[in-house]
Amino acid sequence: MRWMQNPMKVIFVLLLSVLMVECTTSQTTENLHCEDMNTCETFVAVCAVMKNEHYFMVEWLRYHVSVGFGKFYVFDNYSDPPLSEIPEVRSFLDKGILTFNPVQDFSPFSSPQSYAYNKCLEMYGHQHVFMLFIDADEFVVIDERMRSTYPDITSVLSQFKQHGALKVHWKLFGSSGYEFHSGQPTSVLARYTRFIPQEEMERMPDFIASPEGHMKMFVHTKYVVPGSCDPHGCAVEADVVKSNHEALTMESALQVSWDVLSIHHYVTKSYEDFRSKISRGSAHSMYVRHLPGKTMQYFGYIDSKCHGEFKLGKMLNDACCQGH
Ligand SMILES: *[C@@H]1O[C@H](CO)[C@@H](O)[C@H](O)[C@H]1NC(C)=O
Repeated sequence: MRWMQNPMKVIFVLLLSVLMVECTTSQTTENLHCEDMNTCETFVAVCAVMKNEHYFMVEWLRYHVSVGFGKFYVFDNYSDPPLSEIPEVRSFLDKGILTFNPVQDFSPFSSPQSYAYNKCLEMYGHQHVFMLFIDADEFVVIDERMRSTYPDITSVLSQFKQHGALKVHWKLFGSSGYEFHSGQPTSVLARYTRFIPQEEMERMPDFIASPEGHMKMFVHTKYVVPGSCDPHGCAVEADVVKSNHEALTMESALQVSWDVLSIHHYVTKSYEDFRSKISRGSAHSMYVRHLPGKTMQYFGYIDSKCHGEFKLGKMLNDACCQGH
């Protein structure tokens, strides 16, 4: 690598890293963690990095508000035009539900995305009991049969506040036969209905190779080891459980459970959407790499396993967004 040839630059980067770590540690000890619904700004918050999600951001926001998420920290990765210029996004900003941050791509230690997540936790973690890192193609869904017990995400997560984290499996959705992007904001929830059923997911080689790579983590901010987060979670100084309160182990991670929560992950959307996502170089190239042939073969691979039909997407969209 070229920068290696410049020893001054290396020393400078190292010094700066030490400084950054110093600042991180002193800041976290000063921040007092909130404890509950009364002292926290909101019980749960979401951190997300987004780039050019103009068609998808509004439904994503409205939907998550409708299931009880009260605060979103979005790191806008140089979207053009900036996501903050989407007219419907204004009201979320005005109400203080949404905060934009610029991304800072500089970190010698972690991926830019992980860097943003760690930053998010460091800056805002103390104002919330739980934090979740998701993308614009991920939706947190409370099982419909549980909605009377758990009407919103806070009622679910308050059952888990004695734990260090709750890990939830993805439910992977393919193209549902759509070839093209609709050319305007479209409901992802209503349009993409076909998903990979539990038994099929549990047999997928890439899942078996990395079950925790197919889960997302609600981290209890008080127990997070500073600087340890990546898109799938953080190191925590307390126990990690699944939504059935079972301890998360290598074995239990292999058992997909969507009994209370699932994270709908619209991995590909239409063929056209997937192609543009690949050319943008999304984070998903990370697990696309596990597969031979990569990219477009992955699209067919996901679709070939989507034998489940999620019938409630339209209802969920109607409840929050009516088509948007
Ligand atoms: C922002 O997008 C670029 C690609 O355009 C990518 O290389 C970089 O990792 C992204 N940054 C974050 C924080 O996701």
